[in-house]
Amino acid sequence: MFLRNSWYVAALSSEIGAQLRPLRILGENIVFYRTGGGEPVALQDACPHRRLPLSKGRLLNNRIECGYHGLQFDHSGQCVAAPTQSRIPPSARVRSYPVVDRWGLVWIWMGDAALSDDQLIIDVLNYDNPDWKITAGDALTCACNYQYLTDNLLDPSHVAWVHRTSFASPGTEDTPVEISDTDNGVIVRRWIYDRKLPSFYAPLVRFKGNCDRLQHYEAQFPCTAINKSIFVPSGKGGPGFQSDESSYVMVSYHFMTPIDADNTRYHWLQHRNTDPDNEKVTAMIASSARSAFLEDREVLEAVHTGMANATARPINLGLDAAALRFRRKLERMISRESGNSP
Ligand code: FES
Ligand SMILES: [Fe+2]
Repeated sequence: MFLRNSWYVAALSSEIGAQLRPLRILGENIVFYRTGGGEPVALQDACPHRRLPLSKGRLLNNRIECGYHGLQFDHSGQCVAAPTQSRIPPSARVRSYPVVDRWGLVWIWMGDAALSDDQLIIDVLNYDNPDWKITAGDALTCACNYQYLTDNLLDPSHVAWVHRTSFASPGTEDTPVEISDTDNGVIVRRWIYDRKLPSFYAPLVRFKGNCDRLQHYEAQFPCTAINKSIFVPSGKGGPGFQSDESSYVMVSYHFMTPIDADNTRYHWLQHRNTDPDNEKVTAMIASSARSAFLEDREVLEAVHTGMANATARPINLGLDAAALRFRRKLERMISRESGNSP
């Protein structure tokens, strides 16, 4: 069901502090906190004594004290104090997970800790470029399987119906797409020529009149998606496109973290190449993105329920090609990882 040897976004960095924060990820209960030195920590959220969640205890000098009989655990998960006993039981420890703070997000490695490598965390291009601005990020909990979210983020056609008043513009419903494979996922892209700007982007771009629009929808295993939108004055877009001062570029990063098979924590960031110091623009993008992703959530939660209750095999359409390709490859990776396939 899940690829374990991978980094997942656990939370926005601002959500992990000096309080115990329980989160469920890939069906595992995990408690997060930050040490006095600012390092994020993630431990199995169950005391090895009577399995009281450690998140029901308290933080004492960078250790978690269990709220039942006071066993204390350090950041490595080792029990370092047992006040009711003269000696600490040798097996008194909980699992600790590799965690990294990067791009304003806290990442957790859910598989074999020996394989964790922070170089595998996605790169955010232009992060330090002063001409670009990134939003602080936001998140939603969705009552659906994470793969409905990745399906949706490999399907640019849905904007014509789900986002009529934001991302939609003429041409989004029927312009053909190109699909390609990458080493770590799938890309769907298309240029749409000489159309009206969608209402979400019209106040943000640096030109008036019709646009050429690139929709680049990319998903990386297991469940990260990157949507790059480029808007240029009509006539300037196309396969040989060269960026110039009139180009508007918005890159949306989407990080799906399965809570379990039926629920997903969905995090995102938006990164743009205009108005880096304009807080109003940043706030407008953040709130418009949230409104649009609430539209996705409403559809995808209903899709999850509809598919779970389906009594006949659902049909597939041409627009599903990239999502199905991504699902098949991910399924093979999960099978290989769990030792169920050669
Ligand atoms: S349950 Fe944690 S110390 Fe007893
Ligand atoms: Fe959407």
